Amino acid sequence: MKVIAINGSPRKNWNTDTLLKKALDGAASAGAETEMVYLYDLKFRGCVSCLACKLQKEPRPNRCVLRDDLTAVLDRVHAADAVILGSPIYFSEVTGEMRSFFERFLFQYLNYDDYSKPLSPKKRTGLVFTMNIPEPLFEDFGYTALFRRYEDWMKLYFGHCETLLATDTLQVKDYSRYHLAGFDAKAKQLRRETVFPQDCQKAYELGVRLASKG
Ligand SMILES: Cc1cc2nc3c(=O)[nH]c(=O)nc-3n(C[C@H](O)[C@H](O)[C@H](O)COP(=O)(O)O)c2cc1C
Repeated sequence: MKVIAINGSPRKNWNTDTLLKKALDGAASAGAETEMVYLYDLKFRGCVSCLACKLQKEPRPNRCVLRDDLTAVLDRVHAADAVILGSPIYFSEVTGEMRSFFERFLFQYLNYDDYSKPLSPKKRTGLVFTMNIPEPLFEDFGYTALFRRYEDWMKLYFGHCETLLATDTLQVKDYSRYHLAGFDAKAKQLRRETVFPQDCQKAYELGVRLASKG
């Protein structure tokens, strides 16, 4: 049993990284071999629409042919039993690096002969998103649809997906050092101490579930 986490945050040891590490800890506790991939440490591009993965005579059909730092990662994710994608929300989307990963990851499996039957291996998947926005504003800013869309893609391609959302996160340790007056620093700190540990526990349990057989 192998569980891989793909980290689309540039910041190590911050919100997304912490939750992904907890998820991997959970997976390891259930006996899985685990791996964290930091996208910001890699040099790669999104899909370049070469369509080589759709060529009828391609020796590795339905696999991305681009050769860069993502090539080996895509091979390992292809073979893994479970994968967790984690990203902060930037301007109401995943980060650019995560979006580029997502294009490469899914397009290789897209089946233009029958969209409803992607050519991907079935596996358990998790999505971890962290963000400033509090949950009551989700509808107004289109976040409910955003998260549902990602989960629907993953379910269609891999047959399973669970999403964990960490909202109203702490963005910096000391708000007094920055022009961040739009935030209530005390409320953010309190949430960090009370709600974020619960998010960490949920991430751990997600990892356990993803690594469990059956
Ligand atoms: C460039 C940038 C854009 C952001 N845009 C949003 C946004 O649109 N919505 C939101 O809720 N948070 C936004 N945030 C806040 C981050 O999503 C939030 O702080 C997240 O938890 C950071 O994750 P990290 O600690 O793993 O870096 C943005 C942060 C940055 C740096």
